[in-house]
Amino acid sequence: MGAGEVGEAGGSRAAVQSGPGGAAYGDIGEVLVGRDALARRVAELGERIGADYAGRALQLVGVLKGAATFLADLARALPLRDVRLDYLAISSYGRSTETSGVVRFVKDLDESVAGRHVLIVEDIVDTGLTLAYLREQLQARGPASLAVAVMLDKPERRRVPVPVEYVGFRIPDRFVVGYGLDHAGRYRHFPDVVALSPGAIP
Ligand code: IMP
Repeated sequence: MGAGEVGEAGGSRAAVQSGPGGAAYGDIGEVLVGRDALARRVAELGERIGADYAGRALQLVGVLKGAATFLADLARALPLRDVRLDYLAISSYGRSTETSGVVRFVKDLDESVAGRHVLIVEDIVDTGLTLAYLREQLQARGPASLAVAVMLDKPERRRVPVPVEYVGFRIPDRFVVGYGLDHAGRYRHFPDVVALSPGAIP
């Protein structure tokens, strides 16, 4: 099962076009991946990850803040008995839409990953710098296995190759918000993935 593809024209345009409370996204942007498509894909990923880790204990590592929404949905879609949730936070873009290439831990994990089956859960892979850094850091701690699940992938923007075992949707090179993703701290609460209009990016 490959990643879902979303074209520039918006594969989910027929999906719900309104934001929270029924308000239209208007000049903020347009829906790129609607909430129904997100829910269907999370269910598929949950089944697949559940099959791959059947009979094992799984430690989910969510990357704050962006992955919190995806992690909450994915965790509840896992047909597994023994799942732990832990979180780390790293520095992100700040107010810009371009990566600085500098990644640092702002909050480390509460639990050890040594000897555990670890799945890093991230909102989006863009240049790949963040995930490459996280994989290296967590691998050095001696997990039994290490894999990555992302909801969104912007392959055109990759600067470093990084393995990603589970991908929700491949999307074009657009700056997106919603489903946990922000722009300068805003719009994380949108239930759809919304491509920001150029005018909405200062
Ligand atoms: P990377 O290190 O360039 O792969 O970037 C990963 C991080 O950049 C993600 O965890 C997001 O926080 C942020 N990011 C990348 N693209 C977007 C986007 O389109 N919208 C919001 N945040 C993004």
